[in-house]
Amino acid sequence: TATLLTARCPVMYAPAMHTEMWEHPATQHNVATLRTRGALVVEPATGRLTGADSGKGRLPEPAELFALAESVLSSRTDAAGSAAAPFLTMAGRRVVVSAGGTREELDPVRFLGNWSTGRQGYAFARSAAARGAEVTVVAANVELPDPAGVKVIRVVSARDMHAAMLDEARTADAVVMTAAVADFRPAARSGQKIKKDGPGPRVPGPIALTENPDILADLAARRAAHGPAGQVLVGFAAETDLDLTAAQAKLARKGCDLLVVNQVGGGLGFGAGDNEAVVLDAGGGQTPIPRRSKDALASVVWDLVAARLG
Ligand code: CTP
Repeated sequence: TATLLTARCPVMYAPAMHTEMWEHPATQHNVATLRTRGALVVEPATGRLTGADSGKGRLPEPAELFALAESVLSSRTDAAGSAAAPFLTMAGRRVVVSAGGTREELDPVRFLGNWSTGRQGYAFARSAAARGAEVTVVAANVELPDPAGVKVIRVVSARDMHAAMLDEARTADAVVMTAAVADFRPAARSGQKIKKDGPGPRVPGPIALTENPDILADLAARRAAHGPAGQVLVGFAAETDLDLTAAQAKLARKGCDLLVVNQVGGGLGFGAGDNEAVVLDAGGGQTPIPRRSKDALASVVWDLVAARLG
C-alpha cells in the first residue's frame, strides 16, 4: 500500500460491518489514519445489515463503487490535493448539490414536471464525498439509492428547493445546481382532482402559469450581498442547441462562476449514463469535457472547483 501511495496511485477501501463496530472509536481512529495517509475510505451505506438489524454499515452497491473508482481515476490528481492525499482535493470543504427535477402540482394527482432523474447530481455528490467533502444533496423527486456518506434533503417543488438551497448554501464552499427547476408553476392548485366533466373543479381552457424563483440567480445575489466570499457557484444548462455565446450570456445573467453546458438528446442528458459538456467560466474560459460517465464528468468539474477554492 505504501508503495502504491507513494506512486500517487489511489487505494480505495469500502469497509462493511455492523453499525456498532463502524462507530467504535478504534475503527474511526483507524479509518482517520488511512485517510491521512491518502487512502480513499468510502463511507458505508445505510440499510439492512447481515443480521435482522439495519443501520450504517452496508457495502455500497457495486455500481456505486465502480462509479467512484472511475471518478477518482478521471481526476487530475495533481490539481489541489496534497502529496499525502492526492485525491482528497475537497477535504474540509462543505458542498451542496441540487439534483433531480421539480414537480409543480396542478391538483392532488397531477403535476408539471420534467425528465431529470437526478443521476448527474448524485454523481456530483458521490464524487465530492470521495474527495473528502462534507456533502448535502437537495433532491427533487429522485428515485435512486442515497449516495453513501451524503446527507439527502428531499423536496418536491421549485419553491421547496429554493428554501432548502438558500438555507444549506449559507455555509457552503461550493454549490452545484444540476437540478432541472421548473421556471413556471400553475397559478392555482386545485385542492380536489380536476374533472374533465361532471361536478367539481374543471380546467376550462389553458392552464395559467406563474413564475418560480430563480434559485441560482438568488444564490448569486445572496452571495454578493452577504457572502460567503469565495463560495464557488456552478450552474448547469441542458440545451437542445449548443450555442456557447448564448450560454456565456446565461452564465452572466445568473451570476455564477462556472456553467456546465450540455446538449440533451441523442442518447445524452436526462436519464443517460454518459454525458458530455463544455464548462464555461465567468472569465470567458472554456473546458470541453468529451463524452464519459456522469461520475467522470463530475470529477473534472470538481477539479475546476477545487482549483478556484485554492
Ligand atoms: N435554475 C434555477 N432556478 C430556476 C431555473 C433554473 O436555479 N428557476 C438553474 C438550473 O438548476 C441550472 C441553471 O439555472 O443550473 C440554468 O437552468 P436553465 O433552465 O438552463 O436556465 P433558465 O434560466 O431557466 O433559461 P432557459 O430559458 O434556457 O430555460
